[in-house]
This record gives sequence, C-alpha cells and structure tokens, in this order.
Amino acid sequence: MPRLTIAIDGPAGSGKSSVARRAATLLGYKYLDSGAMYRALGLKALERNLALNDETRLKELAEETHIELKPPTPELEAAGCKNCVFLDEREVTREIRTAEVAAAASRLATIAGVRRVLVAEQQRAGAEGGVVMEGRDIGTVVFPNAELKIFLDASPEERAERRWKEHQEKGDRLTLVEVFDEVIERDRRDRERKVSPLVRAADAVLVDNTAMDVEETARLIVMLAREREKESPVTQKRV
Ligand code: CDP
Ligand code: CDP
Repeated sequence: MPRLTIAIDGPAGSGKSSVARRAATLLGYKYLDSGAMYRALGLKALERNLALNDETRLKELAEETHIELKPPTPELEAAGCKNCVFLDEREVTREIRTAEVAAAASRLATIAGVRRVLVAEQQRAGAEGGVVMEGRDIGTVVFPNAELKIFLDASPEERAERRWKEHQEKGDRLTLVEVFDEVIERDRRDRERKVSPLVRAADAVLVDNTAMDVEETARLIVMLAREREKESPVTQKRV
C-alpha cells in the first residue's frame, strides 16, 4: 500500500493530538505534533523573558533552537503524553502543556520568520510520507499536496471542557471559564493572523467530533485513509 501524508488541522481542543496519534498507530504511520514545536519555542522565549512581539529576536531564536519530537517513553505515555518533546536536548514534554506556554506559542506563531523556520523542519520530518501531522496550517501550507486532509472541529464549549479536564487531572487549578477564555482567545488569534491563519483547506474533509470519542474519530480517519490509499496512483498502476 502507498504511504500517505495525512494533514489534520483544527482549533484548540478539537482532538487533533489524540486522534492523529491513534490514527497513526492504527495505520502504522508516524505521528507528528507541529503545535509542540511552537510550544517548545514559546517556552524558551518565556524563560529568556523575550518580548513576544520582537519579530527579529524571535526569528533568530527559532533559527538557533533545536526541537525534536520523539515517541513517548512508557512512563510519559502512562502520564498521557502523546510524544516526547526535546528543546535543545532538554526534555520538556510536560512543561510545554501549560496555558501560559500555549498563549506564548500562539503569539510567536503570528511571526512569518518564525513560521518559515518551523515549517521547513516539519516538511523535512514528514518528507517520506506515511505520516499523520497535525496543527493549524498543515493542509494549507506545510503539505498542501497531502492525499488526505481533515479539518477537525468540535463546539467551543466541548473543546474548553476537554482542555479543562486535562488541567484538572494535572492538578492545575484553573476554572472552566478561565480555560474557555484562553481557548477562545487563542483560536481568534490563530484564525485572524495574517500569516498562515487557521482555515479549512478547500479540499479538507470537515469532521465535527463534538459527539464522538477519540477512538470513533480515529477510525473514521483510518477509513478515509484506506479509501485514499486505494485511489492513489501508485495502487492503481498495480491493478
Ligand atoms: O490537540 P488538540 O488540542 O486538538 O486536542 P487533544 O489534545 O487531542 O484533545 C484534548 C482532550 O480532549 C484530550 O484529553 C482528549 O482525550 C479529549 N478528546 C475527547 O474527549 N474526545 C474527542 N473526540 C477528542 C479529544
Ligand atoms: O493542543 P492545542 O490545539 O491547544 O495547541 P497546539 O496544537 O499545541 O498549538 C499551540 C499553538 O501553536 C496554537 O495555538 C497556534 O498558535 C500555534 N500553531 C500554529 O500556529 N501552527 C501549527 N501548525 C501548530 C500550532
């Protein structure tokens, strides 16, 4: 079977990471979380107290930073981590999952120079196909020729509640209203930015999983992927 490139984009809490990871496991594909790269860079900018609107400095920061995504260790997997994230060789998998880091990531993600650096990394990482990559601009910018594009969505209330539950489980004492406001503000910034805004690609399948769990959504994507694998020119040449 040909090994496809699958792009999953959507707003915060729509289930991209969980669904992409599960679909990748079912398909035997590699899973890549592009948002983790923006988060890792956001963490570094916060630690250095950099102004999050200093475009030149943040672009330089992106250029001098090494971010690596690896499959989770059994310990991190048990703690609910979908992959291991290394920032300049330091493991930051859990540190990047705070609301503060998410907000910093979405601010530096508005800078064209920063995006250029991270997009090039993502294209390198997924160049061989057999990959499920998720983010905001995967189907529109990173892999515009992906064989399968999904725009994953869920109601804002459902998305905020999902994220709030995760914070609760980690012991973060944020209220549901605080999480709702953070998610909505980040979505607004992601949708309204000039460079690579969050938008559904014209050829992306819209999947609203408000009333679906991770397993159901992942299996729907696997079904669509199997269909695309059969339609692929490589397969058709063989039959
Ligand atoms: O990556 P993204 O922000 O789009 O979402 P996620 O981190 O995959 O999902 C946020 C939370 O919602 C996780 O705890 C998932 O297990 C949960 N979720 C769910 O309950 N039902 C779904 N259909 C999708 C995700
Ligand atoms: O998990 P969640 O959906 O909340 O966010 P994420 O995927 O970890 O991404 C964090 C932030 O990085 C987003 O709010 C975007 O601003 C940015 N991002 C982006 O601009 N482009 C991507 N391909 C992925 C993330």
